[in-house]
Amino acid sequence: MERIATGIKGIDDMSQGGFPKKTVNLIRGPTGSAKSLFGLQFIEEGVKKSERGLFLSIEEGRENMLRAVRSFDLDKNIYDNGQAYMIDYGEIRRGEAEDLLISFKDLQEFLDNFLQSENIKRLVIDSISAVSLYYSSPEKLRKNLFEFCRFLKDKEVVTILISENEKPGSGIEGFVTDSVLNLGYENFNGEFRRTIKITKMRFTKHDPYQHPFLIMDDGIDVSVDEIIR
Ligand SMILES: Nc1ncnc2c1ncn2[C@@H]1O[C@H](COP(=O)(O)OP(=O)(O)O)[C@@H](O)[C@H]1O
Ligand SMILES: [Mg+2]
Repeated sequence: MERIATGIKGIDDMSQGGFPKKTVNLIRGPTGSAKSLFGLQFIEEGVKKSERGLFLSIEEGRENMLRAVRSFDLDKNIYDNGQAYMIDYGEIRRGEAEDLLISFKDLQEFLDNFLQSENIKRLVIDSISAVSLYYSSPEKLRKNLFEFCRFLKDKEVVTILISENEKPGSGIEGFVTDSVLNLGYENFNGEFRRTIKITKMRFTKHDPYQHPFLIMDDGIDVSVDEIIR
């Protein structure tokens, strides 16, 4: 099966080479667990393979996201020279709809055109947590997210949806996405450690354990040999 490598140290070994093509993948975890970094590395890896990426920021302004890119020692130039896009969805809505909540239909309307016209192969949406607030019940959220995922799977794109959910297992996003990666930032006997666990990945014999990772000069580095029990 064709795999889309994340380029992140350890992750591709844990997942038979990366995400299966045309899938929607959920990354969730608390603040500071390196979700955005994961997404940014995924986009940068695509550029190395001439696959154009779109990092769609929902809550953060473009300049702030580019500052994060620099602070992680990632390549900011790819967003200036057209190899990838860094877009603040708030900018697109300047005007009438600016103050309204964002729905998955709104995102779909924008992406439908953009993914195709710009030949986007890798998409990161950071994050869908604010979009979830649009829906008045878990059922409506689930139905609309399901339809959004269906729309994405029809495109020639591999998607990462980022979610701020604190508790693994909570939230319904995991039911409708093809995979779930849980990132953690936890206190182990007085020492804070970042962790990652692939909870689900369709079509894949994936590593089932929770592993620690570090943020190094070249990004996330998962200790695949070390298991947290
Ligand atoms: N150059 C760096 N080296 C190591 N850690 C960094 C560096 N830059 C930022 N960080 C750490 O990365 C964390 C943020 O990661 P981020 O991807 O923004 O998390 P999230 O999106 O899950 O909130 C910060 O808490 C910060 O401590
Ligand atoms: Mg973030």
